[in-house]
Amino acid sequence: MAEFVTVAQTTDVPPGSIILVELADEGVAIANVNGEFYAFDAECTHAGGPLDEGDLEGATVICPWHGGEFDVKSGKVLGLPPQEEVSTYQVKVEGTDIKIAK
Ligand code: FES
Repeated sequence: MAEFVTVAQTTDVPPGSIILVELADEGVAIANVNGEFYAFDAECTHAGGPLDEGDLEGATVICPWHGGEFDVKSGKVLGLPPQEEVSTYQVKVEGTDIKIAK
C-alpha cells in the first residue's frame, strides 16, 4: 500500500498554479487545475527542465526550457521535444492537507 505524505496545504497552490515540494528527496510538482490537484515529477524528461516553473494551461504544463508539453493528469507527452512521459503521483486531499504517494 502506498503511504500518503502531507506535502502542502491547499491554500499554497491557487488554481492555475504549480508549486515544488519534496518527497523522499525528489522534487515533485503539484498543480491546481480548477480545484483538482495533480502531482508529477518536477524534472522534465527531455533535459531536466524545472516543470514547476513552467506555465500551466488547463491541464497542460509547458516546460520553461524548450517548450515541451505534458498532461499533468497522466504525465503523457503532449508536445515535443520530450519523448518520455513524466511520472505521476497519487494525490488525496484531507481537509486542507494535500497528500501524495508514489
Ligand atoms: S528540458 Fe523540458 S523541453 Fe527540454
